Amino acid sequence: MIDSCWKWVGSKRKNLQYILPHLKGNRCFVDVFCGGLNVSINAKDFSHFVINDLDKHLINTYYHMKKNPPVFMYLIEKEFPKIKDKESFNSLRDRFNSNTEYNMDNAVDYLLLNKTCFQGKMILNSERKFCNSFGYRVHKQPGLFYNKVWDVMDFLLENQVSIKNMDFREVVGDDDAVYYCDPPYLNHNKSRYAVKDFSKKDHQDLVECAKESKSRVLISNVYCDETLELYKDAKQIVTYSTKWDFGDTTKSMHKELLAIF
Ligand SMILES: C[S@@+](CC[C@H](N)C(=O)[O-])C[C@H]1O[C@@H](n2cnc3c(N)ncnc32)[C@H](O)[C@@H]1O
Repeated sequence: MIDSCWKWVGSKRKNLQYILPHLKGNRCFVDVFCGGLNVSINAKDFSHFVINDLDKHLINTYYHMKKNPPVFMYLIEKEFPKIKDKESFNSLRDRFNSNTEYNMDNAVDYLLLNKTCFQGKMILNSERKFCNSFGYRVHKQPGLFYNKVWDVMDFLLENQVSIKNMDFREVVGDDDAVYYCDPPYLNHNKSRYAVKDFSKKDHQDLVECAKESKSRVLISNVYCDETLELYKDAKQIVTYSTKWDFGDTTKSMHKELLAIF
């Protein structure tokens, strides 16, 4: 398994063995809520990938990683070792917040903030400024992080990858593709992402998109009475037990599901 360079809340890194076997059968893989890209970089046998997320800074980072990998890596290796304490983190955050362009510097800084902030939560305030604080984690082996950055860039370069920054309603369609949907979990979306909270109406709309699509659509979510009701029209429900990955210290076991439409 390939490890993503992001510490992404809700990452599917530890659940891939339950998800990947159900993603076969089409030439194109559409990662509708791609986040830290943990699923796409481990999905095999596709000739084309579409990676999409509503987080514009995240998608800007993938765009620049793909556009100019040597410069992206040069900047990461130059700037990452400088972030050692609260003061250097705050300078990085100020620099990111004062940059209004979606450019290479913004892309590099977004990944650096993710690696060094508290629990990897990419929280923006009401003025759309990054507001999480320093994570107090010292990275003793930066080389491991750099290798993971290269792994993500290799995926972006070696495959035919289209990058989108859209709401899921505009992405789930009828192409000859498998659409994998990993939305923020039902009732678990408090201030963990840079985008607006994912409401119950959003979850219902996603089910409607899945039902209307002529393609294979898979949706991940927490397993509970409410989600079983939500996905009652799915062709199949796969369940498994796993640990929470919400970036915090809560690591108790719980059940998740994969609804297949
Ligand atoms: C659970 S995370 C995905 C994690 C990813 N599968 C991984 O393993 O790294 C959910 C993602 O949905 C994105 N998101 C939230 N609302 C969205 C929307 N309306 N349309 C598309 N993406 C959205 C968030 O920015 C976040 O990155």
